[in-house]
Amino acid sequence: MSEGIDLVPLARETLLDEPARLARLDAALPQIRAVLAGETDAVAMQATLACLLWETLVQTNWCGFYRRIGETLLSVGPYQGTMGCLRIDFARGVCGACARTREVQLVPDVEAFPGHIGCDARSRSELVIPVVSRGELRAVLDLDSPHLAAFGRAEADRLLALVREVFDRDDVVF
Ligand code: SME
Repeated sequence: MSEGIDLVPLARETLLDEPARLARLDAALPQIRAVLAGETDAVAMQATLACLLWETLVQTNWCGFYRRIGETLLSVGPYQGTMGCLRIDFARGVCGACARTREVQLVPDVEAFPGHIGCDARSRSELVIPVVSRGELRAVLDLDSPHLAAFGRAEADRLLALVREVFDRDDVVF
């Protein structure tokens, strides 16, 4: 599987309509699950997910993880895209809100989200998924797009299910 996954090539930052985005994600998910099967190292999984979700979710300009490194502190982890902020306190931004509440943050317009952190000034919408394992908030999966409303609830649900399946297991080493 060294070539990545089998998807129709699309230009970076293309915004497909929601049914087309879901069809692309549904084509990718079994391949992503197959690539990760048997892996137990969290960094290897985060790096591989950042790569494969970046190929799948072509509407993104940032796709990757912030890892919890303290009681209320996140540090940037494996990602693809423009340079991200290095550290984010739980009190700040969309990622902080996700880490604090452990709830998915679906933000169709980041300018309407108080405290949004603009690492890339072109980002217009964002989706952040909590990574919880064995009852602990371990990381967040952050997706940013230069398009407004680039993510929907159905994508959020699928990504949350994937993240739970691969990280919330007894054998994963963070
Ligand atoms: N926008 C995020 C910060 C992370 S970056 O955009 C990569 C936030 O508000 O938490």
